[in-house]
Amino acid sequence: MDFQDKVVLITGASSGIGAATAIYISKQSAKLALVGRKANNLKAIGVYCLKSKGIQPLTITADLTEEADVERIVKETIDHFGRLDVLINNAGIVLMGGLKNSNMEIYDKVMATNMRSVYHLTMVATPHLIESKGCVVNVSSVSSTMPSSMSIAYNISKAALDHFTKCAALELAPDGVRVNSVNPGFVKIQTYTKM
Ligand SMILES: NC(=O)c1ccc[n+]([C@@H]2O[C@H](COP(=O)([O-])OP(=O)(O)OC[C@H]3O[C@@H](n4cnc5c(N)ncnc54)[C@H](OP(=O)(O)O)[C@@H]3O)[C@@H](O)[C@H]2O)c1
Repeated sequence: MDFQDKVVLITGASSGIGAATAIYISKQSAKLALVGRKANNLKAIGVYCLKSKGIQPLTITADLTEEADVERIVKETIDHFGRLDVLINNAGIVLMGGLKNSNMEIYDKVMATNMRSVYHLTMVATPHLIESKGCVVNVSSVSSTMPSSMSIAYNISKAALDHFTKCAALELAPDGVRVNSVNPGFVKIQTYTKM
């Protein structure tokens, strides 16, 4: 696949699946905007991406649960690259617990990160994606359709994300914007920053 001249924004690019995705797409010549909270980790992944094809990624240190940060992410991407073609909503957290052993803080934190921030970022990015006839990829989980009592808030956040994906796909299809999800099972995480 060739991403030449395509601008790809990846959240949660400072580790795990997001970092691996960033490095993979950098090898297809994409211009990358990488988002995470840990600036040092982001920088390290940026160096890997730069080595692929010599294209310097934009790194944006931001907390996706802060509304001002979400708006800044899109603004900095557009100010820097002038366009946005692909939004990969990958950032997510798992907090363990069910009805008997969790609390509303856990629920609010998981939903704020895994669902609310995705809704907000996609909303702010939508005008730019319509302009480029771009696409959105939401990183969900097999947990969205496999009930488990170990991490109820996480599971329902991913079920909500799947429904969001379908609703957004329906809304944006007439504008030429595709919205899809990937639903991984357990993924072995590589620690790039220690290599
Ligand atoms: N790994 C698996 O087995 C698996 C399986 C199914 C689905 N998934 C899904 O895949 C996605 C990535 O998972 P992963 O395992 O690669 O996770 P990970 O290694 O823990 O990475 C999570 C990423 O999300 C970022 N993030 C979390 N909260 C954030 C916030 N409030 N603002 C900005 N960035 C935030 C983290 O940034 P900082 O560290 O810089 O804060 C980090 O880059 C998640 O949506 C997860 O639910 C993972």
